[in-house]
Amino acid sequence: MDCTDRENVKEKIIMMRPMKLAGSELMFGAESLEYIKTIKARRVIIVTGGSSMEKNGVLGKIEGYFSSTGAVTGVIKGVEPDPTFQTVMRGTTEMLDFEPDLIVGLGGGSAMDAAKAMWVFYEHPELKSIEELITMKEFPKLRKKARLCCIPSTSGTASEVSRSIVISDNETGMKHGLGNMEMMPDIAICDPDVTVSMPSKITAETGMDALTHALEALVSKRANYISDLLATQAALDIITYLPRAYRDGSDIEAREKMLLASMTAGMAFTNVSLGIVHSMAHTIGSFFHVAHGLADAVLLPHIIGFNSADGRSRRIYRQLAGKAGVNDLERGVIELNRILDIPEGFAGVISDRKTYMNRIPEMAETALADGCTKTNPIIPSISEIEELFRNVYKGE
Ligand SMILES: [Fe+2]
Repeated sequence: MDCTDRENVKEKIIMMRPMKLAGSELMFGAESLEYIKTIKARRVIIVTGGSSMEKNGVLGKIEGYFSSTGAVTGVIKGVEPDPTFQTVMRGTTEMLDFEPDLIVGLGGGSAMDAAKAMWVFYEHPELKSIEELITMKEFPKLRKKARLCCIPSTSGTASEVSRSIVISDNETGMKHGLGNMEMMPDIAICDPDVTVSMPSKITAETGMDALTHALEALVSKRANYISDLLATQAALDIITYLPRAYRDGSDIEAREKMLLASMTAGMAFTNVSLGIVHSMAHTIGSFFHVAHGLADAVLLPHIIGFNSADGRSRRIYRQLAGKAGVNDLERGVIELNRILDIPEGFAGVISDRKTYMNRIPEMAETALADGCTKTNPIIPSISEIEELFRNVYKGE
């Protein structure tokens, strides 16, 4: 072993972290919602988004299951897409009043992330801002007052098995990403029935978010044997089942495979992190309020192309393409986007071209500073990210 080898080993050990695949209870598959009947809790607060979970009867079902155990339930409604700190504080105040011993995040990534954030501030009301939390030397301990259960209604974000949250600034709309294993939900319940009423557009976009998680975890600088196993199977299942779930939302087999694949990709990325698709998608989301999954989907083929300059990534993409039965992964993802009616560039999403182009230098800096950049196989220069932002607008 020469000096360079030793340096490489040292670098690898620094990059390695203990793995955690989920909280203490992970339930998945048909009827897994019934698991609620066995959960011991006295006071349960359910955090959810718009009215979809109420309309499709899932919220009522969950309340009923908790009531059957003797628990008292309350609901915090109206978590918006890209939840703000203001929403987190509103929920925290309600929680301080209700005093739950179990918090349930029910919905897509926004509702689950908001529930996680409310949990942190409910446990630690002395904290007054998201910046205060981000800059803390040691992440505060949770679970003195309550445990967290997540029930996803989309197959994409995998917040139910992740240590991350994304909360937006009230005024600027800038997204703050934050991750710590302390925030891993204690209980995750992934029941495909909860996802059946998801509209096709959300199915497509959140599904492409899940595919991005899998592909970025695969080429991550922290990738390891276990994350590779999880991410590979997740990617293959998404490529097979996402078009089916998009075409026919009632296809329960496709819904179940997508929910499992999203969860599995989540287990991979929460341990080995992501790459610049996410750095750039967070930025586009902050600057132009583009839905996260849509931003990922548009960016993904461009970044596969960019990362292919790295030999290891090229090999991984080639192997995965072989397993998926496509000649070229980049072309395969472009074709998948076409099937899902996702535009080739942001021109189809952000109509104000001039503002977009003018803000590229600022966006490039923000994306480069994003926490996901450091595990991308190639760390781009500022001018390379600028060029990527330019090219991805036109879909070139
Ligand atoms: Fe994502």
